[in-house]
Amino acid sequence: MPSKEPSSEEKIKKLTKLREESKLGGGKERIEAQHKRGKLTARERIELLLDPRSFVELDPFAIHRCTDFSMDKKKILGDGVVTGYGTIDGRLVFIFSQDFTVFGGSLGEIFAEKMCKMMDLAMKAGAPVIGLNDSGGARIQEGVASLAGYGDIFFRNVMASGVIPQISAIMGPCAGGAVYSPALTDFIVMVQETSHMFITGPQVIKAVIGQEVSFEDLGGALVHSRTSGVAQFIADNEEECLEIIKKLLSYLPSNNMEDPPIVDTGDDPNRIDEHIVEIMPTGPDKPYDIKEIIASVVDNGDFLEVHPLWAPNIVIGLARLNGRSIGIVANQPKFYAGALDINSSTKAGRFVRFCDAFNIPIVTFVDVPGFLPGIDQEHGGIIRHGSKLLYAYCEATVPKITLIVRKAYGGAYDVMGSKHSGGDINYAWPTAEIAVMGPQGAINIIFRREIAKATDPNKKREKLIADYRNKFASPYVAAQKGYIDDVIKPTETRPKLITALEMLVTKRETRPPKKHANVPL
Ligand code: HXC
Repeated sequence: MPSKEPSSEEKIKKLTKLREESKLGGGKERIEAQHKRGKLTARERIELLLDPRSFVELDPFAIHRCTDFSMDKKKILGDGVVTGYGTIDGRLVFIFSQDFTVFGGSLGEIFAEKMCKMMDLAMKAGAPVIGLNDSGGARIQEGVASLAGYGDIFFRNVMASGVIPQISAIMGPCAGGAVYSPALTDFIVMVQETSHMFITGPQVIKAVIGQEVSFEDLGGALVHSRTSGVAQFIADNEEECLEIIKKLLSYLPSNNMEDPPIVDTGDDPNRIDEHIVEIMPTGPDKPYDIKEIIASVVDNGDFLEVHPLWAPNIVIGLARLNGRSIGIVANQPKFYAGALDINSSTKAGRFVRFCDAFNIPIVTFVDVPGFLPGIDQEHGGIIRHGSKLLYAYCEATVPKITLIVRKAYGGAYDVMGSKHSGGDINYAWPTAEIAVMGPQGAINIIFRREIAKATDPNKKREKLIADYRNKFASPYVAAQKGYIDDVIKPTETRPKLITALEMLVTKRETRPPKKHANVPL
C-alpha cells in the first residue's frame, strides 16, 4: 500500500513542531544550566534587545553536515546560532546570537554560513550588525571547516568596517582566534564575571610558560576594559550590556551614506551655564574633571563615555548638541595632567576614525601639557602611537570644532584638532595657554646662561617666568595669527559650539584619491 500523502494541515503541523524544536536549541536541561550560570539564552537576549515582535529569523532549520565523531547522530536545528533582523527604536538592525546550549555555541561550517548570510544582507540593506557572542570557539569536530568559517566572517567584518556600524557583545567565553571577529568590529561590550576573551587560555599558558592565572584575571571584563583596552564598555549584567548597545546605536547612522539621526532633546541651544566658570580651578597645574565641562555643554548633560576605564587621561564618547550627534575628544587633567601617552593616543585615534567613517562631527576640548615624558613611553613607541592620533585628525573630513580651555603645549597642540590639523572652527577660553612649552621649561632652556650669571638666579628665573607667562601663556598670540578663530567666554561655550556645528552641517571636504592611506599601526 502506498503511504498516504500528508495533508496541508499535517504539513503545517510539522512546520510548527520543527519551529518549536528549533527554538529549544540544546534542550530544556541546557537552558536551565545556562540560567544557573547567570546567563540568558540566545533567544532571550534577542527578545530584550529588539523591539517587541520585530525579530525575523533566518535559517532556523539549518543543520551541520559533519559525520566525524558520531556528529551525524547529533543534529540540532539552527546549529547553535540564531540569526536574523529586526528593529531597535524602529530602526533596522541585523543580529546573530550564539547559543551556548548547542555544542557550547561552537562555530562550524553551517553556523558560519548562517552568520555570513546575515552579514551579507546587512551590507546590502545598509544596517548595523550586532553580534551576541557566547561560544566555545571553533567546533573541534568540524576541523578546518570551522577555521574556514571564521576566516569568512573575519573577511566580512573587514568589508563592513566603515560601511555599517558593527557592535559586539561578549556574554560568555570568546577564545582563540575567535576573538578577532569582535576585535575587528567598532565596539565591544563585555559583561562582568560571565564573559572572557583570550587568545590562549589558562591551561595552555600554564603548560607553555608555567604561569598560573584565572579566567577572570586573564581575560575578564575588567581586564579588557581597564588594562588591555580591548573592550570599550563594561556592563554589570546582560540587561545592562544590551541597554548600552541600544544607547550606542541611538547616536549612530545606519551606514556611512547616512547622517546620524537628529533627536529632539528639548535642551535650549542658547542655554548658558553660569556654573561652568567654577569648574576649572585658578592656577595652571590644578586638576579638575573635564567631564564636568562636557556635561555642562552637551544636551541635557547626556554623555555616553567610550572606554571610561582605559587611558583615563583622555576622555572620548558620544553626546548631542542641539539634537545632533557629536564625538567628543577631551584631555582629562585629573590623570597625568591630561598628557598624551601611548594608550590615550591609540584610544582617541581609533575613535576619531570611527566618527569620521560614520559622519559624526568631532568636538575637541583641549587641556594638554604635552606628551608624557619617560623611557617607558619612548621605548614603547610613543612616536608610532602618538602619530595615530595626529593622523586621524588630519585624515578626518567631518566637521571638526576645537576649544582650548587651558593648556595646549608643544606637539600636542598641533595634534589635538588644531587649525593646522584641519580644525574648521577653533575657539579658546581666556584661560588658554598656547605655546611650545610651559613657562618653567621654556625659561630654563632659552635663558639658561642669563639665569646662571644672575646675582640672584631664583629671582631672575621667577621674573623671566612671569614675563613669559604674561606674553605667551595666553590665547592671544594664536588669535592674532588666526590659529584661533575667537576667544570666547566660558559661559558662551554651548551656544558657540552649536552655531559652529550648524554652520558646518553642509561641510564638504575631499582628500586626494588613493587606494587607501597608510595609517601608522
Ligand atoms: C566542540 C565544544 C567546544 C568546541 C565546548 N564544547 N567547546 N564542542 N567544539 N570548541 C561543548 C562541550 O564539549 C560540551 O558538550 C558543551 O560544549 C559545553 O561545554 P562545557 O565544557 O561543558 O562548558 P563549560 O564548563 O562552561 O566550559 C566552557 C568552555 C570549555 C570554557 C568554553 O568548553 C572550553 O574550554 N571549550 C574549548 C574552548 C577552546 O579551546 N576552543 C577552541 C579555541 S581555538 P557536552 O555535550 O559534553 O555538554 C579557536 C580557534 C578559532 O576557537 C580560530 C579562528 C581563526
